Amino acid sequence: MIRVDQSGELAADLIYKGQYAVLTRTRPELEPLLKHMWEQEIHHRKTFNALQNEYRVRPSLLTDLWKVAALTLGVGTALMGKEAAMACTEAVETVIGGHYQDQLRMLESCPDTDDIKKLRKVVKQFRDEELEHLDIAVENDSAEARPYWLLTETIKTGCRAAIWVASRI
Ligand SMILES: [Fe+2]
Ligand SMILES: [Fe+2]
Repeated sequence: MIRVDQSGELAADLIYKGQYAVLTRTRPELEPLLKHMWEQEIHHRKTFNALQNEYRVRPSLLTDLWKVAALTLGVGTALMGKEAAMACTEAVETVIGGHYQDQLRMLESCPDTDDIKKLRKVVKQFRDEELEHLDIAVENDSAEARPYWLLTETIKTGCRAAIWVASRI
């Protein structure tokens, strides 16, 4: 769990970093919003980095691939425009919100040890924040992206595949 989440939050940090770099130039009015989401992702990433060290979890072997893919996704969608960037966020956060929800359900069925309680708290908080990002994306015209369906479904499929792989290697 910690390995896949650490990979995911590292990717999220870089997606928002890419979006921030492009969109603060083309759409400066979005700066506070992008900054808010990016800062939460940085906190998510730092939290899982700390958990990874604490529990001696090996990082995903494909960490470099996740980094390149995430930055490319963030910059690429932002270059397509604000709506495409928001569609990317909508797609990513839909999958990640569901992923955290699945993990939470699994953790709920575990014994109430201190470790499990700590993880539950983190996963629950981050799930809520990812779903907040999802709402922000929808409120900011993600559905206006073209081609919306192709873009969001492709990104969702990519995220699901990445989760599957990072859970294993
Ligand atoms: Fe996150
Ligand atoms: Fe997020």
